[in-house]
This record gives sequence, structure tokens and C-alpha cells, in this order.
Amino acid sequence: RAAAVQRLMKVFVTRRIPPEGLAALSRAGDVQQWDSDEPIPQSELLAGVAGKDGLLCLLSDRIDKEVLDAAGPSLKVISTLSVGYDHLAIEEIKKRGIRVGYTPDILTDATAELTVALLLATSRRLPESVEEVKNGGWTTWKPLWMCGYGLSNSTVGIIGLGRIGQAVAHRLKPFGVKKFLYAGRHPKPEAAVELKAEFVPLAKLAEESDFVIVTCSLTPDTQGMCNRDFFCKMKKTSVFINTSRGTVVNQKDLYEALVNGHIAAAGLDVTTPEPLPTDNPLLSLKNCVILPHIGSATYATRNAMSVLAANNLLAGLKGESMPSELKL
Ligand code: NDP
Ligand code: DGY
Repeated sequence: RAAAVQRLMKVFVTRRIPPEGLAALSRAGDVQQWDSDEPIPQSELLAGVAGKDGLLCLLSDRIDKEVLDAAGPSLKVISTLSVGYDHLAIEEIKKRGIRVGYTPDILTDATAELTVALLLATSRRLPESVEEVKNGGWTTWKPLWMCGYGLSNSTVGIIGLGRIGQAVAHRLKPFGVKKFLYAGRHPKPEAAVELKAEFVPLAKLAEESDFVIVTCSLTPDTQGMCNRDFFCKMKKTSVFINTSRGTVVNQKDLYEALVNGHIAAAGLDVTTPEPLPTDNPLLSLKNCVILPHIGSATYATRNAMSVLAANNLLAGLKGESMPSELKL
């Protein structure tokens, strides 16, 4: 029976992934892969998924009706190498009875760590300072030069106090943060009690926070949530950090806020689009630090993500419970 099940497992993998994950898949299935570090062209994706039982995809693959139609009725499981699933057409997937695996928890620490690194790099102007050392701008120690904002005694506002949001808050607390605020759909009394975090409306979070950190998921409600109105409510001395998804932010409005001094600085690990074109106006600003979506990018985390994604797919194809299945 095991052999029969294995013969049925035709799997398509949309990118080169860490070898641990690929090895786990290959032991159990007939794997076809887009063996490149670069994204799969749409025509190859449509051809690759046709007749497959399982699909292992990335956050940069849009799995929509066209792809699902190309896969056909054999497709039983989609496993994404990410915790975010805004790239999946969930309603279409549900209609077809396809199960979905994703990678929560195992990337929380790495992403929280990167969020703290980005916050400090932005608020203490690290990329700008490094540049000044290289270009000769460092002429002497100057009392008023390269000053930024510190966490000690600050108010930190977190939009989306989920797994990553909480992990960020726990890491920031020892820096001497005075108060945590958070916004979301529901209060989270258990998570908030240890942090003494206060559940507040988004407007109050914007008005009172010295640091705003976005760690929510991208949904129709959060799309464009950080817009002109939001940035105008923030303090002129506040720092904005986004490690969720680029489209939670209206980037034109963010640019205006940074240029007009409505906020002090911004740090983004995620943008719209990705990659951000090198002529994007945000890249011309010294008070904007942009990273290439590296929140979960530690060797150990990416290896673990690939193994979990493989195990999700295999379990789903065998009709077993997945290690991490998305409740649809
Ligand atoms: P969780 O599901 O644990 O947290 C998501 C949070 O978003 C929840 O607390 C939820 O709050 C909140 N949220 C949902 N809707 C809203 C809303 N309308 N307003 C405010 N908050 C809202 O997910 P994770 O913490 O594991 O991951 C969060 C996101 O981070 C992922 O979806 C992904 O997009 C991104 N991510 C980015 C990475 C990177 O490399 N930069 C790495 C990993 C993840 P509630 O419970 O109240 O609905
Ligand atoms: C995710 O998992 O959603 C991140 O964006 C990448 O790890």
C-alpha cells in the first residue's frame, strides 16, 4: 500500500529550496522542480503543475484560479514555504477541497530578531553612519552629528500582536521600553498581560507610539492600512518599521511622510513590488532603510522551513494530519 501511495505522489516544486527539504520530498514522491534561484516564469508554472498531486510553492508565486485550473482535479495539497499565505487564492482553493500547509512558529525567532535589527539600524542610523565612514563624512566627533532615537523609556506600538509581534515585544522589553500598545482585530489578554501591553485603536497607537512596528498579516482589511492619515497622526520624532507585507503600507504616502518630516524614519523589510526597482524614490532617502525581505533568512530557519513544508505536503498527500495545516 505504501508503494502504491508513493506512486501517486506527483509533486511540483516552484524553486530551488534547501536540500534538507528536497531530500525529504524526494524520498517519498516523484518530484519535478524549477531548479533555479530565480522565479519560475508563469508558462513554466502552468505547465509544471498540470496533473500534479502536490505543489510546494513560495510567497512570490501567485497561486490563483489560472494556476489551479492548470493543475486540474489531481491537485490535493498546496504547501507554501512561508507563514504568510496572502499569495494563495484561498476561496478558490477551498472550493476545490485542496488542503494547505504553511510554516508558522519555526520562523518566529529569526523574523523577530531581524525586526529588532532593522529597528535599531533605522533609529540609530546605522547604514547612513557606515556610509559616512566610507565617504569621508566622518571628520571628527561632533556632538550634534548622527543622532537618532533610543528605545529606553519609549512607547512601542505593535500592529498585529501575533506570534512575531509578541516575539518582537519580548525582545524589546529589556531595552527599557516604558509602554507597549497594540492594535488588531481582537484583544489578546494572555499575550498582553506579561508585556503589560494595552489594546488600543489604530489612531491612538499612531498618535502615542515612538516606534510603530507592523507585524500583522496581509488581508483586505490591512491592505493600505498605513496611509497618509495614519502617518499624519504619528509623532514627527517616531520611527516606522514594517516586516509584514509591503502592501500594508501605502508607499507613496510613506514617501511624503518621510520627505515632509511627518515621521522621523522608516525601516522596511518588505515592499511593493518586490524587488523594489532601484529607481524607487524611497531609495533616495537617508531616513529610509530598506532590506530585501530577509526576515526569516537564517540558514537554520530556512532549512527548517523547507523540511516543514516538505512534511506538510507529504502528510497531506497521505491523508494524514499535517504538522502545520492552515485552517481554511
Ligand atoms: P500571526 O497570525 O500569529 O499574527 C498575525 C497578526 O495579524 C495577528 O495578531 C492578527 O491579529 C493581526 N491582524 C489581522 N488582521 C488585522 C487587522 N485588521 N489589524 C491589525 N492586526 C491584524 O502571524 P505571524 O506573526 O506568524 O506572521 C505575521 C506576518 O508576518 C505573516 O502573515 C507574514 O506576512 C509576515 N512575515 C514576514 C516575514 C519577513 O520575512 N519579513 C517572515 C515571516 C512572516 P488578530 O489575532 O487580532 O486578528
Ligand atoms: C513568510 O514566511 O511569510 C515570510 O515572508 C518569509 O519567511
